[in-house]
Amino acid sequence: MKIEAGMSSIGLRWSVLTLFPEMFTSLLSASLFGKAREKGLIEVDLVDYRREACGRHKVVDDAPFGGGAGMVIKVEPVARALSTLRQINPGAHIVLLTPQGRPFDQRTARRLSGLGHVVLVCGRYEGVDERIRSLVAEEISIGDYVLSGGEAAAWVVMDAVTRLVPGVVGQPESVLHESHGDLGMLEHPQYTRPRDFDGMRVPEVLFSGDHGAIAAWQRRQAILRTARRRPELLGRIELSEEERSLLEDLGLTG
Ligand code: 6GU
Repeated sequence: MKIEAGMSSIGLRWSVLTLFPEMFTSLLSASLFGKAREKGLIEVDLVDYRREACGRHKVVDDAPFGGGAGMVIKVEPVARALSTLRQINPGAHIVLLTPQGRPFDQRTARRLSGLGHVVLVCGRYEGVDERIRSLVAEEISIGDYVLSGGEAAAWVVMDAVTRLVPGVVGQPESVLHESHGDLGMLEHPQYTRPRDFDGMRVPEVLFSGDHGAIAAWQRRQAILRTARRRPELLGRIELSEEERSLLEDLGLTG
């Protein structure tokens, strides 16, 4: 681990505890992460916790007590790697990636983007020793399906959070108006040239030059789209009386 004491002025530092650091190399040099690292907005340390494992064979997993299929990640290698990280930065926020965690969403992404130093612990195989849970601040899942390991989940979390760090994404509005952005609903439809493709025409209002009319159309489309595709999101959205009755008239109340 090559982390210096006294955190510098970077926006966000990631430490990723994984048995497969090579799974992150292409991700980290690709556009979003590559540029953010070049600009000094984020830093990423890959920590191979196999190095902290005991014995000549660097054992990181073992059979579960009580029997059962598969292997379980041992507590000591993870505990040792985390204790080194904590000595360097006692304020580091430690997250365990597990299908048993709280579902990851845009609100969680926003919260993590302001934390300064986030540590992601990637589990593997069939599970992790239960005592690892006592070493972390929170547990996150990226959805109700099973991945072979936490690495793909770490990519997802790192991407969603890093793009919210100020300066990483060019135009701040593109972060505000996107789906699941500040408004908490799906984004309105977007079009670019040509105006007519096979008889499918771009809505006239977008050529009107009337910014008020365009904004009103976009909001209405976002509301309708959210109501049709993700009605369960509507409860969290602030709608005017008029917007509520529009949805009622269309039979679209969640
Ligand atoms: Cl964070 N890890 C694994 N192994 N599977 C998952 C997950 C995480 N989130 C959803 N499925």
